[in-house]
Amino acid sequence: MKKKIVIEYQEFTSAGLLAKDDAELLEAAVSATDFSYSPFSKFRVGAAVRMADGRIFKAANQESEAFPSGMCAERSLLYYVFSKCPDVPIEAMAIAAKKGRKLTATPTRPCGACIQVMLDAQKRGGRPIRVILGAQEKIEVISSVNDLIPFSFDNF
Ligand code: THU
Repeated sequence: MKKKIVIEYQEFTSAGLLAKDDAELLEAAVSATDFSYSPFSKFRVGAAVRMADGRIFKAANQESEAFPSGMCAERSLLYYVFSKCPDVPIEAMAIAAKKGRKLTATPTRPCGACIQVMLDAQKRGGRPIRVILGAQEKIEVISSVNDLIPFSFDNF
């Protein structure tokens, strides 16, 4: 039997068109790129989360001379948040990246390993995490991490 998965998401042409909360979170992700340590890739990724209690946390990618020891912005942030407030659900996560000083033209989508940990965060919180992927030309808003990983690991 042939089956089909349809993923719906929203696309906006400017941050001005986003809901106020989403625009604020995306701004936090963009500002987090300032804290990126990326001398090797020169790709500055910032991520920000809004917690269910309204707090916003942000982090950036951190690279290492021993390359595999570096860490993406999303996982740096999520592991910090899990350690800091393990029982507070995450409502939304925004991601943005700069090449040098310029925001990327198109959205930076999280890597597979980060999507898995975002899914862990969603399961821990017991509610969908809204994902906002910002860029110069367009912004994508995805209403659940499941939409980023439809065939997720789920049998453990
Ligand atoms: N990176 C992230 O921070 N998040 C992603 O989802 C993908 C990639 C970082 C890792 C590395 O420091 C740089 O971007 C280039 O891959």
